[in-house]
Amino acid sequence: MRSIACLALAASTALCQTVIPPSPWNYTYPWPVHYHNLTSQRLNLSMAYMDVAPSSNSATSNTTTAPTIVLLHGKNFCGATWADSARRLSARGHRVLIPDQIGFCKSSKPTTYQFSLQQLAYNTNSLLASLNITSAKILGHSMGGMLATRFALMYPTLTSHLILTNPIGLEDWKALGVPWRPIELSYADELKANYTSIRRYQQATYYVNTWKPEYDEWVNMLVSLYQLPDEGAAFAYDMALTTDMVLTQPVVYEFPLVKAKTLVMIGTRDNTAIGKAWSPPEVQAKLGNYSVLGKQTAERIPGAELVEFGDLGHSPQVQDSETYHAALFEWLDRVG
Ligand SMILES: *[C@@H]1O[C@H](CO)[C@@H](O)[C@H](O)[C@H]1NC(C)=O
Ligand SMILES: *[C@@H]1O[C@H](CO)[C@@H](O)[C@H](O)[C@H]1NC(C)=O
Ligand SMILES: *[C@@H]1O[C@H](CO)[C@@H](O)[C@H](O)[C@H]1NC(C)=O
Ligand SMILES: *[C@@H]1O[C@H](CO)[C@@H](O)[C@H](O)[C@H]1NC(C)=O
Ligand SMILES: *[C@@H]1O[C@H](CO)[C@@H](O)[C@H](O)[C@H]1NC(C)=O
Ligand SMILES: *[C@@H]1O[C@H](CO)[C@@H](O)[C@H](O)[C@H]1NC(C)=O
Ligand SMILES: *[C@@H]1O[C@H](CO)[C@@H](O)[C@H](O)[C@H]1NC(C)=O
Repeated sequence: MRSIACLALAASTALCQTVIPPSPWNYTYPWPVHYHNLTSQRLNLSMAYMDVAPSSNSATSNTTTAPTIVLLHGKNFCGATWADSARRLSARGHRVLIPDQIGFCKSSKPTTYQFSLQQLAYNTNSLLASLNITSAKILGHSMGGMLATRFALMYPTLTSHLILTNPIGLEDWKALGVPWRPIELSYADELKANYTSIRRYQQATYYVNTWKPEYDEWVNMLVSLYQLPDEGAAFAYDMALTTDMVLTQPVVYEFPLVKAKTLVMIGTRDNTAIGKAWSPPEVQAKLGNYSVLGKQTAERIPGAELVEFGDLGHSPQVQDSETYHAALFEWLDRVG
C-alpha cells in the first residue's frame, strides 16, 4: 500500500520518498470527498476535503465568485462534524471548504511527521492555492481555532475574517506548569482510547456533564478511527504527535499581531486544557477557565468581538446549534 522511492544524494545517504495514500476509513461524509495531493517532508500525501457550493437559491450562487469560508476541525473531530454549519453557510451564499488535516480522518496518516501548526497551515494554504482561492473567512474550532490563528498570522492578506470557536491555545499550558509528556506515553494513552473513555471526556468538557443520544455519533466516529485495522496505530501516533504540537507551540503571545476581523465565540462552561490530565492538582486548578480566557483573548486581538454562551461547553455549535449560528450570522452580516 505504501510505495517508496529513494534519491541517492551521496554514496552513504539516501532520502526516501514515500507515498501514503488517503485513508481507507469508510465513514460516510455528507458531500463528495476530494483529494489534494501534496509532497511534504519527503512524503507524498493526500489531504481530503469537501467543497460545498453556495446553495442555488442563495444570493451568490456562483462558486467562483461566492465568498469562501474554510472550516477547520478540532483534534477529536473531522470535516464531517461541520455538516450542520456547512449547510447553513451554503444556504447563506458561501462556498464552504472543509479539509481534514494530514494525520486526521480521511487524509493520509503518516507513521511519523514533523507536525507543526505552521505545517498544517501551509498545507491548508496549498489546498486553497490549488483552487485559486485568494480570500477566505477562516473558522476554526478547538485545535482548529489554534490552527486558524496560526493561519491568519501566516496569511494575513488571504484571511479576511477569523472566527474562533472555543479554540484551544488561549493560554500557554507549559508556562502555567504543565509538565512535558514524552510522546510514547501520550501514544500509550491514545492506544487505550475507547467509547467509554472518549464519551467520559466529551461529556465533562463539551456538554457540561449532560448527554444526548445524538452526541454518540461523534464518539463513534472517533472510535472507528482508532479501530481502523490497517492504520489505527498510525492514527493514535499522529494524535500523540499533535498533542505535543499544541502543547509546545503556543499562539497566545501573537494574538496582538492578528490583522483579520475577528470573532471569538466561547461556551464558557468549557474547561479544556492540554496536559491537565497529567498535571498536579495545583496546576490543574489554574487551567482552562474559559469564562476568563475568552475575554482575555478578545482584548488581545485588535478589534475582536466576543460572544459568550453562558451555559454551553467546548462545542457550542453542536450543543446549541440555533443559538450558535444565530450569533455567527449576526456578526457576519454586520461586519460584511
Ligand atoms: C511524489 O510526488 C512528486 C510530485 O508529484 C513526484 O514527482 C514523485 O515521483 C512522487 N514520489 C513517489 C515515490 O511516487
Ligand atoms: C493523489 O494520490 C493518490 C495516491 O496516493 C492517487 O490515487 C490519486 O490519483 C492522486 N490524485 C491526483 C489528482 O493526482
Ligand atoms: C461565475 O463567475 C465567473 C467569474 O466571474 C464567470 O466566469 C462564470 O461565467 C460564472 N458562472 C456562471 C454559471 O454564471
Ligand atoms: C486556477 O488558475 C489557473 C490559472 O489561471 C488555471 O489554469 C486553473 O485551471 C485554475 N484552477 C482552478 C481549480 O480553478
Ligand atoms: C475502556 O478503557 C478504559 C480505560 O483504559 C478501561 O478501563 C475500560 O475497561 C475500557 N472499556 C471497554 C468497553 O473496553
Ligand atoms: C467499514 O470498515 C469497517 C472496518 O474498519 C467494517 O467493519 C465495515 O463493515 C465497513 N463498512 C462499510 C459500509 O464498508
Ligand atoms: C474562573 O475564574 C473566575 C474569575 O476569577 C472565577 O470566579 C471562577 O470561579 C473560575 N471558574 C472556575 C471553574 O475555576
